Amino acid sequence: MTAPILSVQHLERRYGARIGCTDVSFDLWPGEVLGIVGESGSGKSTLLSCLAGHQRPDAGTVTYDGRDVLAMAETERRRLARTEWAYVHQHARDGLRMGVSAGANVGERLMAVGQRHYGDIRAAAVDWLDRVEIAEDRVDDRPSAFSGGMQQRLQIARNLVTGPRLVFMDEPTGGLDVSVQARLLDLLRGLVRDMGLSVVIVTHDLAVVRLLADRLMVMKSGRVVEQGLTDQVLDDPQHAYTQLLVSSVLQV
Ligand SMILES: Nc1ncnc2c1ncn2[C@@H]1O[C@H](COP(=O)(O)OP(=O)(O)O)[C@@H](O)[C@H]1O
Ligand SMILES: [Mg+2]
Repeated sequence: MTAPILSVQHLERRYGARIGCTDVSFDLWPGEVLGIVGESGSGKSTLLSCLAGHQRPDAGTVTYDGRDVLAMAETERRRLARTEWAYVHQHARDGLRMGVSAGANVGERLMAVGQRHYGDIRAAAVDWLDRVEIAEDRVDDRPSAFSGGMQQRLQIARNLVTGPRLVFMDEPTGGLDVSVQARLLDLLRGLVRDMGLSVVIVTHDLAVVRLLADRLMVMKSGRVVEQGLTDQVLDDPQHAYTQLLVSSVLQV
């Protein structure tokens, strides 16, 4: 019998008197993509950053592969963040090192997991840039010379090069042109499938979850108002808020 790769129980994070998120519970199964949707301010980013250990929740538990994440030593959590986990930020600049080349952005993740052979690292970096459709002749360019879509693809390569198991993504297609978004989504879908990744993806865009997510969690004011299989939730929403989201009455 398989166990969840990530299990979250009654997670809460407050900012003073304000609720970031509260009473969030779910299981993520290996190879599954969970989408989290909700309007701006509904607690999506807060939740994601608590899951990844970037913020400490005020209550609840997070279990990764049977291990209590909140009880882990910081060094162990950092090791996981370098190896088995990945975090794709909405703004590529938050997930990239803008002052070093594209190749170094990918290669340094490999060095962080102990690879030392320059030729192998360079070859792996070039291979990964190719997988995210960045031509080899750009390998020595800095990300600041790249378009928004390319930067985001580079961030994805940097995250996936070490073969993580669990990937957190916060609005990975946010702020990009619609045509660029579509291409990125296509690419992401292929990578998630090929690598069998377990993913928690936050977005306010229902088209993104329709394409990528097996399961969906709908948040409003920091709480989960509905969760279920993506098609079920989108085609037959039960909660009034989800109905509004789906009918596009809400501009999120
Ligand atoms: N650093 C912070 N300090 C105070 N309040 C915050 C902070 N970050 C988020 N919040 C508040 O927490 C709630 C959830 O925010 P957030 O998780 O960013 O939502 P989303 O990602 O869905 O837009 C909002 O009311 C927001 O104003
Ligand atoms: Mg957010």
